[in-house]
Amino acid sequence: ARPRVWVSQPLFDEEIERLGQYFDVQATAEVTKYSAGDIAARLAGVDGALITLNERVGAAEVAGAGGLRAVANVGVGYNNLDLDALSAAGIIASNTPDVLTETTADLGFALLMAAARRITESERWLREGQWRQWSFKTMLGHDIHGSTLGILGMGRIGQGIARRGALGFGMKVLYHNRSRLPEAVEAETGARYVGFDDLLAQADHLVLVLPYTPAAHHLVNAAALAKMKPSATLVNIARGGLVDEIALADALANGRLAAAGLDVYEGEPNVRPELLALRNVVLTPHIGSASLDTRRGMVALAVDNLIAALGQGPDAGRPPSALNLGQIDAGKTG
Ligand code: GLV
Ligand code: GLV
Repeated sequence: ARPRVWVSQPLFDEEIERLGQYFDVQATAEVTKYSAGDIAARLAGVDGALITLNERVGAAEVAGAGGLRAVANVGVGYNNLDLDALSAAGIIASNTPDVLTETTADLGFALLMAAARRITESERWLREGQWRQWSFKTMLGHDIHGSTLGILGMGRIGQGIARRGALGFGMKVLYHNRSRLPEAVEAETGARYVGFDDLLAQADHLVLVLPYTPAAHHLVNAAALAKMKPSATLVNIARGGLVDEIALADALANGRLAAAGLDVYEGEPNVRPELLALRNVVLTPHIGSASLDTRRGMVALAVDNLIAALGQGPDAGRPPSALNLGQIDAGKTG
């Protein structure tokens, strides 16, 4: 019999049809919210799964899935996967890096500009009919060109934002990362490595682009926010859990931070009322990678990963962006 795969959400039909060349596909016609039990039940009957960041897959979900060999995440961040649990079960996990880098960097820059120049706030004010109240000091924001851009997490997306800032807007770029980048990469943008506290203190605009791990939970808390300039902008396009949202809302409400742009939240799809009540925060619904071309590219890469991880197609056994082949091999020999 042909291997069976489950696709958790409606994606792009032509890509799902590609899976159909190799597998019996259990597709999903409606956008669906799954409980852990639902996911476990789906995984129990299949060899592979194509999922999004809304589906959590950990030890409990794979415990009854003896036939499951591959989970392909449509997204670059994979904090919805318990990689150790998947590796222990011999399940190949994959994500979709690279294809979304530039699109996500674009959105980060858009949020930075919208927040610092008060674009959505201005539009709301105009639509509310308040323009008659205009004064010379209406909607004064903070400059982007020539300012200091801070980047926390200098992966591919962080480097994309650094290029936009340095080459497009003449910004001075500072970054903090687990490790320093090679000099050649720093040289392209003039990006300078600094400690976390220096980054907070010196950035006019700070963009968060680091992966979420439990160690990074609420990295940007009240103490960190207190180290930032009151004129600064904070942008988060990574994961909501990196920021203490109550502390952020408090800083924004009390003039200790000028503005913020958020694409990600702790309780997605719920957004805290404290944030919704503020005018100086731009809020988007996790659309970092949401361009038509990029979303297609992500699904295409996830499909390639799944086909290869299940031993089919031109890359059989060599999924282009597997996350845990080394861990699985180490488990077999160790
Ligand atoms: C989206 O947040 C992703 O990780 O791809
Ligand atoms: C994260 O993986 C990135 O591409 O920045």
